[in-house]
Order: sequence, then C-alpha cells, then structure tokens
Amino acid sequence: MRDCPLLDVLSGGKPSRRPVWLMRQAGRYLPEYRKIRATAGSFLGLCYNPELACEVTLQPLRRYDLDAAILFSDILVVPHAMGLHLDFIEGEGPQLQKVGGMADVDALLNGIDSEPFQKVYETVSRVKAELKSSIGFIGFCGAPWTVASYMIEGRGSDRRQAVTVAVENPAWFAGMIDRLVETSIAYLLGQIKAGVQAVQIFDSWAGDIPEPHRARVVANPIRRIVDGVRKYHPAFPIIVFARGVGSGHGEIARQTQASCVGVEQGTALPDVIAALPEQVAVQGNLPPETLLKSETDIVDACRRVMDGVPMRRHVFNLGHGITPDVKPEAVQVMLDAIRRFDHV
Ligand code: CP3
Repeated sequence: MRDCPLLDVLSGGKPSRRPVWLMRQAGRYLPEYRKIRATAGSFLGLCYNPELACEVTLQPLRRYDLDAAILFSDILVVPHAMGLHLDFIEGEGPQLQKVGGMADVDALLNGIDSEPFQKVYETVSRVKAELKSSIGFIGFCGAPWTVASYMIEGRGSDRRQAVTVAVENPAWFAGMIDRLVETSIAYLLGQIKAGVQAVQIFDSWAGDIPEPHRARVVANPIRRIVDGVRKYHPAFPIIVFARGVGSGHGEIARQTQASCVGVEQGTALPDVIAALPEQVAVQGNLPPETLLKSETDIVDACRRVMDGVPMRRHVFNLGHGITPDVKPEAVQVMLDAIRRFDHV
C-alpha cells in the first residue's frame, strides 16, 4: 500500500495525515540555500546545474518533516528554452527578451529538445533517486497567461501592458499562447518521464484578468495543458494555482479539470470547497506574513486555516511563496501546529 499523503489527497483517497509543503520552500530564507546559491554564481546557473539544483530541492526536506519536494527551477525556464534571452538581476528580478508581434512569435523555438529542459530533467531524475516513497514529488510550469505576461513586459511589473494585449487579443497574443501550451505540455511530460508524480501550474497573475476574459486567457490554456498531459497519463494529479481569482476557484476547477486548486490568502477555504466538484481538493492558504509573527499568532493562524477543511481534501500550504525574511524556526512552529490539529 502507498503511504504518500500528498498523492492520496490529490487522487481523492484518504491520507494518513494532512499533507503540507510550501511554495518556494527551497529559497533564500534557508542559510544552506544561500550557501549553495553563492557557489553556483547566478540563479540561472543554479537552475541548470543538476547536482546543485537536486541538493537545493532536498534541503528543506532534510530540515523539516514535509510531505512533498518541489523541483527547484523557475517558470521562466520555458521562454528561455524557446530562445528568449533571460537574466536574473540581483535585487531586481528577471529580465526577459520581449515578444511584441507575430514576427517575434514566429521566431520562437519549440524548446522541446533544448539544453535547459535536458538539465531540468536530469535534476528530476537525481531528486527522484533520493526521495522516499512517502514524499510526493511535484514538478511545475507557469500557466500560459503568467508566462506570457513576462514575455510581453520583459520583467516583473504591474502587467498593465500585458493585460491590455490579453484583453484586445491580437492574433499574435493567441499565437503566443498556443506556442506556450505546446511547449508546456512537452515540458511537463518530460518531467513526468524523469520522475515527478504530480504537477502544479502556476498562474500567479490570474487575478489581473477581468472576469469576462478569464475563461479564454486563464482557464482554457491551462485546460489544454491538462488534456495534453492526461492524454498520456490519465488522471494525472494536477494542482492549478490561479492566484487571486477569489470566488472564481470553483469555476477554474471545472474549466481546467484540476485535481486540486491552489488558493491565495484572504479567500476562505470552506467557501472554495463548497464551490468545488466533490473529488477536487484545495491547497493553501496561510498568509506568508504569518511566519513573521509570534508563535501564538502562527499557531492560531494555522488552526484558522484548517478549521472547516477536512483533511482528505486539504493540502496545507501558504497562500503564496515564503519570503526571504522568514526565520527557519518559524516553519517548524507552523509544522508542529499543523500536526497538533491535523486529525479532523
Ligand atoms: O517553490 C519552489 O521552491 C520551487 C522553485 C520555484 C522558484 N520560482 C524558485 C525561485 C518556483 C516554483 C518558482 C515559480 C515562479 N517564478 C513564479 C510563480 C510563483 C510565484 O511566486 O508567483 C514566478 C512568477 C517566477 C518568476 C520569478 N522568479 C521572479 C519574479 C523572481 C524574482 C523574485 C525573487 O523572489 O527574487 C524569481 C526568482 C526566484 N525563483 C528565486 C527562487 C528561489 C529567488 C532567486 C535567488 O535565489 O536569487
């Protein structure tokens, strides 16, 4: 019998405990990460170094009793593999070569046999060889809309220009989304072949798209990726994190056929569960800033998140990534609180 709480929840089974992992669980809040990051030189150098990327993926699991590993990489590896120049500038974030019309879309590569993807698959194989079977292994990609927003703006921004393009929907925007769907399917299938057991699709900027356009810009491209993956792996566990859609998560679940929806902080999980098809789980949604507060505040906030959310339908997580200013001890306080209340 399998005892993997994460995969149990994602496949509608009964877990032995409430699974928990954290978005950005490998990252700058961990001194051991900062050390390896310094050795690697650059962030991208770390993403494409299978030995170091494997080590960094495993670091949070050495320190904490978590239920999942998430591949260490970045969503912008996909446009990089498609031929766009990418840099991560210290203290500024990503800078990506821009796409601004059909000629740029036509010049994109499919990325499928690219060196970046091969390096990521090698990282996956290495991690897989080290994980015990109770730990779920999560791969990921960015959703087409969020990745497209970086391709249009060239960097982290307010995304106003990208939203305008998405709403006006010129042929080149639709063409770019098609190319991202195709490459993302191949990329996830490659990760699955190398050993990941579930995938998360990150649509960090889903909340920027006005509701009347959400089905076309957010949900439909994700659904095409889900179908592309499940064509080869029926019922494969897929978490869709359409961040910021609030009361729209039920609709997102139906439109994308997700196994689980990731929910941002500030949206009540019991309300999301009530709007979901019976077999779909929720993931989230402790506010990341909780981890900067006192022990009592952390314990109370964990209990509030778990209240009214049955264990078999819940993957405990933050509402967004853990921030670099969190003290590693705060994560242990959170885990102890979850274990104390997780039997409901
Ligand atoms: O969750 C994990 O531990 C897995 C690794 C992971 C990273 N980025 C590592 C990373 C994952 C799943 C991502 C996804 C990602 N990347 C998203 C979607 C999730 C989200 O946070 O909304 C987005 C929008 C990106 C793009 C990106 N990458 C930005 C905007 C930045 C700069 C901001 C920052 O925190 O510096 C990154 C850099 C990045 N990705 C870091 C890490 C650990 C920090 C880089 C460093 O070590 O210097």
